[in-house]
Amino acid sequence: MGWNSWNSFANLIDSKIAVQQAQAMVDSGMKAAGYQFVVVDEGWWKGARDGAGNIVVDARQWPALKPGQRAGDMSNLAQYIHSLGLKAGIYTDAGKSGCSFAGPDIGPKYPGTGSEDHYDQDFLQFARWGFDYVKVDWCGGAEEKRIGAVQYAEVARAIQKAEKTTGHRIYFSICEWGSQNPWNWAPGVGGIVSDIWRTGGDIVAPVVEEAKDEAHLKRTATLKNVLSAFDAGMHPEAQHTGYYNDLDMMVIGMRGMQEDWDRVHMGLWAVSSAPLMVGADLTRLSKSNLALLTNPEVLALHNDPVGVQAIKVAEPGPGLQVWAKPLAKPGERAVVLLNRTESAAAVSVAWAQLGLAPAPAHVRDLFARRDAGRFDAAYTATVPAQDLVMLIVSGQERASVLYTATGGTELIGGAAAEPCRDCPGGRSVTIGGNKALSFRDVRSAKGPVFARVIYRSGARETVVGRLSVNAARSTGVAFPPTGGETRALTLYLSLRGENHPNDLEFTAPCGADVALEAISVSSW
Ligand code: GLA
Repeated sequence: MGWNSWNSFANLIDSKIAVQQAQAMVDSGMKAAGYQFVVVDEGWWKGARDGAGNIVVDARQWPALKPGQRAGDMSNLAQYIHSLGLKAGIYTDAGKSGCSFAGPDIGPKYPGTGSEDHYDQDFLQFARWGFDYVKVDWCGGAEEKRIGAVQYAEVARAIQKAEKTTGHRIYFSICEWGSQNPWNWAPGVGGIVSDIWRTGGDIVAPVVEEAKDEAHLKRTATLKNVLSAFDAGMHPEAQHTGYYNDLDMMVIGMRGMQEDWDRVHMGLWAVSSAPLMVGADLTRLSKSNLALLTNPEVLALHNDPVGVQAIKVAEPGPGLQVWAKPLAKPGERAVVLLNRTESAAAVSVAWAQLGLAPAPAHVRDLFARRDAGRFDAAYTATVPAQDLVMLIVSGQERASVLYTATGGTELIGGAAAEPCRDCPGGRSVTIGGNKALSFRDVRSAKGPVFARVIYRSGARETVVGRLSVNAARSTGVAFPPTGGETRALTLYLSLRGENHPNDLEFTAPCGADVALEAISVSSW
């Protein structure tokens, strides 16, 4: 959750704007609601390096912010943002040049604003300046016809090196617009413990209020922008807590948007557990924009520990859709009743579509902030045109099926001290330096399938493993530390349904102290 400069300021970003926006994040109550990153996007750097290859920053664009500071030092801004209790983000490109080599949104072209050939140097510099987040774009990478999975793994390793050298954590934001199916390789790329990856092109071209040229004056944000970004971003098999599909910076509060569209936007991003990076000018947000962005019940749903994406569970008519996901509390579901059409319509959700037992369930309407009551088997709401209703349905879980690993085994990692060559007899096997654990003959009915992976980890850091399904699809899986206690993490599984057998294989790096006890599979 945070703010990014691009949608409303494009290349005009400078210290004054960044400071104002950080201050507005605090004054508006957004910080108190949980927004924390202030991210400076493209335009902060014009591509200059010194003889040793170090980034050289414009001293007028980034002046000293307090006595004793040197102008032209990005740590001035990072320090200021930190002084407000917020986190600082910065931007680069995985190629030799950022997008401004081709033609920036405003002003002259700047070649050489990328980090290729300087990964170690630049990411160490970002960490030393104090940045906590880096967005890595792909204009240069695309121009050079690079392979995203390779370049971003190198970037990830440079980030890890910088983290080791400085002890400073950097959150990794991959931005290659879904061009090389990043959902297949971005989760955990290069062994990174948490990251996000953009799933589509830019949600809007920047709407810069200060720019008075004809092109900018014509630009607006619309519901169509919001729905296209949402539709392009649904890759639920890649996402779980720690690894998120990034539907792009939000356009709530930008020119062209209206209250019902804003609600659709907030509801869809929240039910997807997508990054909530606000792209509007925070000093211009209306009261209703702020109420929406800080709605505590919607944010609690967004931040639920089960970070899977929503699944479309019904499409009762053209443009009418029901999206839902499990929440951490057993029997709880986040539900969105979406009306994309231009007239009001009744939209229903049945408990059976949510994997709930046939029993009464309680319904809470989050935007109306009222309890709708208890209902036996379904709930129907009249959804206004181009709007949505967001619910939490609290019912009873249907029985799930528990699987233990082949051969009654449970360990993928084992004690940290255990040598890699010596995985416990017959229990797990070593594959290329990783230990693997298989669950065979996993079956599901028709419909979405979620697995609760019951594990414990004695590791101090998140262990990045992988899950492959039927020896084909594979994705990164983050196992956060549990202090040796048993905990569950929830994954969406893309299985051959209707009771076909499926094989699941988890791998974790040898020596990682992670024990996998069982998986509990629910088909909705
Ligand atoms: C790309 C990204 C945007 C923004 C611009 C900056 O288009 O997708 O989010 O970072 O570059 O030029």
